[in-house]
Amino acid sequence: MKTLVIGGGGREHALALALSRDPQVDDVHAAPGNPGIAGCATLHEVDPMDGTAVAGLATELGVDLVVIGPEAPLVAGVADAVRAAGIACFGPSGKAAQIEGSKAFAKQVMATAEVPTALAHVCDTIEEVEAALDAFGAPYVVKDDGLAAGKGVIVTSDRQAALDHAAGCGRVVIEEFLDGPEVSLFAITDGETVLPLQPAQDFKRAYDDDAGPNTGGMGAYTPLLWAPQDLVADVTRRVLKPTVAEMGRLGTPFSGLLYAGLALTGRGMRVVEFNARFGDPETQALMALLESSLSALLHGAATGTLGEVGLPQWRKGSAVTVVVAAEGYPESPRKGDRITGVAEANAIDGVDVIHAGTAIDADGDLVTAGGRILAVTAVGSDLTEARARAYEGIALIKIDGAHHRTDIAAKAEQGTIEL
Ligand code: AMP
Ligand code: GLY
Repeated sequence: MKTLVIGGGGREHALALALSRDPQVDDVHAAPGNPGIAGCATLHEVDPMDGTAVAGLATELGVDLVVIGPEAPLVAGVADAVRAAGIACFGPSGKAAQIEGSKAFAKQVMATAEVPTALAHVCDTIEEVEAALDAFGAPYVVKDDGLAAGKGVIVTSDRQAALDHAAGCGRVVIEEFLDGPEVSLFAITDGETVLPLQPAQDFKRAYDDDAGPNTGGMGAYTPLLWAPQDLVADVTRRVLKPTVAEMGRLGTPFSGLLYAGLALTGRGMRVVEFNARFGDPETQALMALLESSLSALLHGAATGTLGEVGLPQWRKGSAVTVVVAAEGYPESPRKGDRITGVAEANAIDGVDVIHAGTAIDADGDLVTAGGRILAVTAVGSDLTEARARAYEGIALIKIDGAHHRTDIAAKAEQGTIEL
């Protein structure tokens, strides 16, 4: 199979690497890609937001499958343009991607499908915001309705900060606060068949001990040995299948990856958010352990034949991924710093350095080009070994001003996560 991955972040590097190691795939292309993806795919220059250009490139290359990584092109309808050109495409239509593109739409789908989620008010005026904040009380959860690259949400006990965030957003969704550990559970679907992946956990806050602002994700690991035994079955039955069915009923069938962000609260499991694409950096950890064919799953979802593809199979052991972020991330990341130690980290047994915000400068050196620069992903026979290898890799990477969390998967390793 010949594949084309659209995007140029860590998620796309992890997907392209898994495809390049898939015996059923003989050719991997990516656009626009990044210097890491260049190591496992042929790169092409294309604007990922331009559906006509993406479909044109896919036609020119004669690929069997296009995989669209990020949310923005999905919401913009790039998958529709690829399918209109007669090429199989992994990723939902622009309309179906509204499950991520509008939090208010997602809430409506969940209400109709009776999916457990936080109580919420959709607010268009500051008076509505004030009433909703006072109805729920602190801590306040205020979410921008639209796409905000993981930075549209604040959780705060400061009422003025909640109001200020809402004032800068337009339409917002105010929610009840959910406590308890968070889980990311992804499912591959063709709109009928729903195949869950194994659960992962992401670390959203910028600093150790969940301090600092929300980010796109500072690290992840899988599997979750502390999670309830029936978690995957329960989420599949009460969240994933009813949501996919409701999207079909609405006339916006969802195919691609449905990402359920969940909180395991004292009152039961609740959906925190849906996304319409693979999560980043959870995908880096998941791809490191996927044993069965990624292309079979993605092609099955894209062509409505997922019923013929078996459940994904996983290697034993654990995977841990630790993100290195630029100075100033998430507020205003600095760019252009030199990166060294990548080859040395890659040489560690079980380690892959996954590039996100990297570039090659005029002198041919690898430099930073985004907030989340790269992620060191390691597999091990258990969480202890995977963590040790990931942090061994992190220690070799040198970037001025960069920061990373030192506690990725630490509580899971120590067995101190409380349900
Ligand atoms: P979202 O973009 O909706 O996933 O929100 C980003 C992060 O904000 C989540 O991963 C949670 O850590 C936090 N968050 C979102 N909604 C809630 C909620 N209702 N209660 C507590 N924390 C939340
Ligand atoms: N890991 C969070 C996200 O991909 O949205």
